[in-house]
Amino acid sequence: MFASLDLPAEDPILGLIAAFRNDPSAEKVDLGVGVYRDERSVTTVLDTVKAAEQRLVNEQDSKAYLGPAGNERFNEAIAALVLGAKHAAIRDGRARTVQAPGGCGALRIGAELIHKANAAASLVVSDPTWANHIPLLSSAGLQIQRYPYYDVTTGGVQFERMLDSLNSQAAGTIVLLHGACHNPTGADLSQAQWHQLADVLSARRLVPFVDLAYQGLGDGLDEDAAGARILSEKLPEVLIAVSCSKSFGLYRERVGALIVVAEGSRDATAAAANLGKIARGIYSMPPDHGAAIVARILEDAKFAAQWRKELSKMRERIGGLRNALTEALTLACPGREFAHITRQRGMFSMLDVAPESVERLRKDKHIYMAGDGRINISGLREQRIDYVAWAVAEELNNQRSKRAVAG
Ligand code: LMR
Repeated sequence: MFASLDLPAEDPILGLIAAFRNDPSAEKVDLGVGVYRDERSVTTVLDTVKAAEQRLVNEQDSKAYLGPAGNERFNEAIAALVLGAKHAAIRDGRARTVQAPGGCGALRIGAELIHKANAAASLVVSDPTWANHIPLLSSAGLQIQRYPYYDVTTGGVQFERMLDSLNSQAAGTIVLLHGACHNPTGADLSQAQWHQLADVLSARRLVPFVDLAYQGLGDGLDEDAAGARILSEKLPEVLIAVSCSKSFGLYRERVGALIVVAEGSRDATAAAANLGKIARGIYSMPPDHGAAIVARILEDAKFAAQWRKELSKMRERIGGLRNALTEALTLACPGREFAHITRQRGMFSMLDVAPESVERLRKDKHIYMAGDGRINISGLREQRIDYVAWAVAEELNNQRSKRAVAG
């Protein structure tokens, strides 16, 4: 039977983990997979996670099943973290949360729910979007198209073109949005733009599906949730896929949640019950350990304050690295503008380098980034920024000369 299987192409992001590990060079720099790295380029376990985990180990008296919706304490705490405990959708019983195996699991059960509600549903994603969005969401049977998003000339969002495209979508189309820290570009919407977007979605009767995987790593916990909160206030139906991988550093524990905001509490209950069925049909129920850690952190004022501090430190370090990279690239590549790297938010920015340059940087300079030029800013150790900037500048200058000759 397995003889009929071809070898699939390597995952464009996860493939970088092994490639980097197998590179013996002492020069190597890992700007690949989206995990936060500290100044030593290490992804450590947060102190708050260690302490909460210890408490969990001491206190937990059963590992009996919890059910397809997972850990209810976690669900309640995460909904409050994302929407704000006093949000009208929570107060009015329009919001329901189910735990899922990571942000990917949340996206997938959300897509399954959409497909179950409307087998003809189509979904639009930003151009570009995270490399796994299309495989993950189309596996649930959704038709996927793109809307314009990133403006490579300004490093910002082509907001008017984005709205024009959304204005031409059929009612009921699902619009996938990055809540904050757009992956792969780092180009985010302002609060005013979220409001404008909400009005267009509402007028066209489009349904937002927000992927919120980096809350707290952009401008702050509340600031990064502003888009999801605005949409949940102004629109009758919203889905929000939440990941705790980055903000709690719980990557391998697979902790996530899907928040569904519905028109009324009957619909919300129906959506949650159907999500339970969907989960039962795929993985039965999500793993508890990571979610139980998050619940303990968010329920305990001391842990919560300590975690917020750790998160701020990560965010501030990323901000500092953005400034330093902008400066180094400006020096290494005169006549080119890099200020957008400072304006962008979260773990990623996208360098305007061709795939051949990405390949050469990897082979000759041992600098690893995704094939589309996406770099994980936190992977830049301070003492290596000049090395990276000069290597990237060489590629950008070569590209520029080639374009000049061709053009
Ligand atoms: C990334 O974008 O690098 C991370 O979210 C890891 C992944 O699963 O792709």
